[in-house]
Amino acid sequence: MRKKIILITGANGEIGHGLINSLYAKGMDNILALDLHPISSSIKDKILEGLIGNILDKNLLEQINSEYEVSTIYHLAALLSTRAEFSPQMAHEVNVTGTLNLLSLAVDQAKSIGGRVKFFFPSSIAVYGIGKSKGSLGPISETEYCHPQTMYGCNKLYCENLGIYHANYYHRLADDFKSGHLDFRSIRFPGIISAVTIPTGGTSDFLPEMIHAAAQGQKYDCFVRKDTRMPFMVMPDAIQAIIDLMAADKFQLSQHVYNIGAFNPSAGEFADKVREHYPEAEIHNAINGKRQSIVDSWPAQIDDEKARTDWSWSPKFDLDSAFKNYLIPKITQQYER
Ligand code: SER
Repeated sequence: MRKKIILITGANGEIGHGLINSLYAKGMDNILALDLHPISSSIKDKILEGLIGNILDKNLLEQINSEYEVSTIYHLAALLSTRAEFSPQMAHEVNVTGTLNLLSLAVDQAKSIGGRVKFFFPSSIAVYGIGKSKGSLGPISETEYCHPQTMYGCNKLYCENLGIYHANYYHRLADDFKSGHLDFRSIRFPGIISAVTIPTGGTSDFLPEMIHAAAQGQKYDCFVRKDTRMPFMVMPDAIQAIIDLMAADKFQLSQHVYNIGAFNPSAGEFADKVREHYPEAEIHNAINGKRQSIVDSWPAQIDDEKARTDWSWSPKFDLDSAFKNYLIPKITQQYER
């Protein structure tokens, strides 16, 4: 008999940390956590097993397929947008081939179980590419401006389509795989700010880096202009969104991929907020033209009406309450330790 598990790839990443904590709190501890590095000490007691390995290693995925019965896959492993620009080929391998490998695992599992496997894929605001000044545009829906300007954005947009293909069309020529057996669900995340972890290699890293630097009494050189605006949310809302989307009845979902948003301060407005709580904070600007142009190609606002209607998406935190009730208390507590 194979062990029944939930598979999480990229488990050590920021979303992985938040998701494992949240699933554990809900009593779901049958998690097989896969990561390139040993599972971090803060989550390793909350999982069934940790596996050190690469999503490009087909033998490893074959081993998982033979040893475990996988009901749900949260495929979080990825190279983020700035890092992907430095190594586009490797990014394509990890972000696209890696995702295809996981989708194939999900199909194999669905075939052997003879039932449904759920698949969560974190997509990104990076799928958008706005060629003109974005300030004049209203909220952007899922179907507009899907012309990514980064390798990461191209990878995410294509993988959304790979997921939809496997969910809706793959069965047409596969006798042993039935329609509906791969239940693919995805969220296009805006920038995410966690009080507990700091992102690496992303282009939306300027806000999390800014507040974590201030909390540690460190000077911060923000790599985008003060007037740079894009959507953000805090980690608890991002995790809640994953849990809610994955728990929704399938008939409620009118699409596979959903935008979600919470607030969209400019970098300058966020810096002012940081200074309200850390008056000594030294925040300056040292613009990185390349990273600036990436953020400039991402919408200033997104339209998340579909998520609100279909599965009742509603962020718990706006900018003020994010600072007051989540970021400041948690970050302060963390650096006081
Ligand atoms: N946070 C991501 C990045 O900056 C965007 O999804 O790459």
